[in-house]
Amino acid sequence: MKAIKNSCIFSALFLGGFFMQGVAVAAEGVEVRHLGPTHTLVKVTGDNNYLLLPVQEVFEDDARINVLADGKIAETIYVRLSRTKTDYTVPFDLTPYKGRNVVLNIVTNQNRNSVRDAQDDVCWDEMVLTDNFDTTNTELQWRPVYHHTPLYGWMNDPNGMFYKDGVWHLYYQKNPYGSKWQNMTWGHSTSTDLVNWTAQPDAIKPDGLGSIFSGSAVVDHDNTAGYGKDAVIALFTSAGTSQMQSMAHSNDNGQTFLVYPGNPIITLDSEARDPNMFWNNETGEWNLILAHALEKEMLIFTSPDLKEWTLQSSFGKGLGAQEGVWECPDLFPLTIPGSDKTKWVLLCNINPGGPFGGSGIQYFIGDFDGKKFTSDTNPDGTVATKWLDFGKDNYAVVSWSNAPEGRRPVIGWMSNWQYAADVPTIQFRSANTLPREMELFSDADGELRVASVPSPELAKIRGKVISTADNKKISGKPSSYKLPADGICEIDMTFQAKENDLVTLTIDNPKGEKVIMKYDAKNHTMSFDRKESGVVDFNTKFPAVTSAPTFEKDGKINLRIFIDRSSMEMFGNNGQFVMTNLVFPENPYTSLSLESKNGTAQLDSLKVYSLNI
Ligand code: FRU
Repeated sequence: MKAIKNSCIFSALFLGGFFMQGVAVAAEGVEVRHLGPTHTLVKVTGDNNYLLLPVQEVFEDDARINVLADGKIAETIYVRLSRTKTDYTVPFDLTPYKGRNVVLNIVTNQNRNSVRDAQDDVCWDEMVLTDNFDTTNTELQWRPVYHHTPLYGWMNDPNGMFYKDGVWHLYYQKNPYGSKWQNMTWGHSTSTDLVNWTAQPDAIKPDGLGSIFSGSAVVDHDNTAGYGKDAVIALFTSAGTSQMQSMAHSNDNGQTFLVYPGNPIITLDSEARDPNMFWNNETGEWNLILAHALEKEMLIFTSPDLKEWTLQSSFGKGLGAQEGVWECPDLFPLTIPGSDKTKWVLLCNINPGGPFGGSGIQYFIGDFDGKKFTSDTNPDGTVATKWLDFGKDNYAVVSWSNAPEGRRPVIGWMSNWQYAADVPTIQFRSANTLPREMELFSDADGELRVASVPSPELAKIRGKVISTADNKKISGKPSSYKLPADGICEIDMTFQAKENDLVTLTIDNPKGEKVIMKYDAKNHTMSFDRKESGVVDFNTKFPAVTSAPTFEKDGKINLRIFIDRSSMEMFGNNGQFVMTNLVFPENPYTSLSLESKNGTAQLDSLKVYSLNI
């Protein structure tokens, strides 16, 4: 039923029940009463599963909605309720409130002068009840097909990833009520192959201590926390007026969590977030690394039971890249190839101050004795800044706990805080990177570094070979190779360039949209230019050229380039240099062309695979 809007709305008295007869009935089962220019009550009288909330993206000010169940505040959410037009709707789940009186006590911030103005906002008419919320993909152009995305809404950091009984769990920073950052909740997806993801119900929702920021999860094999053998324990930041660390446990393999009644479990007098915990085999206790964000250092704790944490040390003051806040840490051991020695790697996500502006991920290699991390130094005693990715779109990278076979897979949020809220997708906003395995390698100068190797599962989705070439000169004139018509593919190629040569790869479509990659054999660098890659004008920080050192000295380069609908990830020499960049082509890229400036480069092999997904 359409809204009945008449002057009765203003004269209606608020008597006994909810509204008097004839007062604004917005849609069937929904009653709306405006009490002032910024205050509206919405009563749900229908028995449906969802109330659709209409959203208009342009507003910075969200309406604050206190959801009252039988008169008590059950939850508080923030929504950009639409004013002049609705961009999309988001579902408010009523199923937990069946049989109870549900009233939405809404304070808008839309600078209306009078109740009369406020009632004109289109959202009131468009709040409708429904039993099913349609999550069919509407982003046919740019929603990735083999990367993880939320069904709808905003996503940032991956959180609490763990592996158990053949299932990879991935939680993430989610806004269930819009495609911009807000209402931080742990969304949840699962996969058995790290490629195909199944959406699960939200795992941890905001509570009285605040919204649920980033954190980690572990499988408690020895029941140290007292929730049973193999209970899943999550630690996260409760972000309210201050940031505190809280705990939750799950006895159903991470499907649902119960927050610890004694939360918060760690409080400090300054901003600290994104707790990342792990069992330390050598010391027989738990470790936790926590970002002391504004101090630009990481704090290290120990615990016997995941509840009582003792601060042991801090790392990083004045070291490495220091421009932005330090966030989302991780700390894990890796084996030095060809030896049985171990080094510890500390991942430190920073924003801003990444290698090409905005978000970036640096790492430190060193030793860890269970209490203190010490970084390796250069011969002159300084600590080099090392970047894990030389693109613009890989942030908040952390690893899966409890991974099988000694693996250390990681995943990152494939965006950048510079423009994440402006990228031209609406139903979902942001994807994760492909999964990668962390491995150590020695570069051409003998320096130890971390490689990001595409996870082995990715080789299993290789389909038909679309183009192939072997032992060919890369001449001064471009030679072209076909990509699949939908542009979704993996390019795997190896070439050898002579000194001073410049090898150019152009990936383009008939519209002339292109990504240009250049290997400079003299300077041992690879660049990635997305300035003309498609739609780039949604933010001035988006069109960019990124560039990576290639860490080799012999001009021999293997590239694996993964192209999805709105991303390109280049892995060089088995992940020794990596560039992750978003692209938004109007049409799929369908061609790859190669040329070398001096005509002295040799293409050893090239294969373009379509992907079975
Ligand atoms: C990093 C971050 C984290 C925080 C989360 C909030 O992108 O700022 O430090 O926990 O996002 O969504």
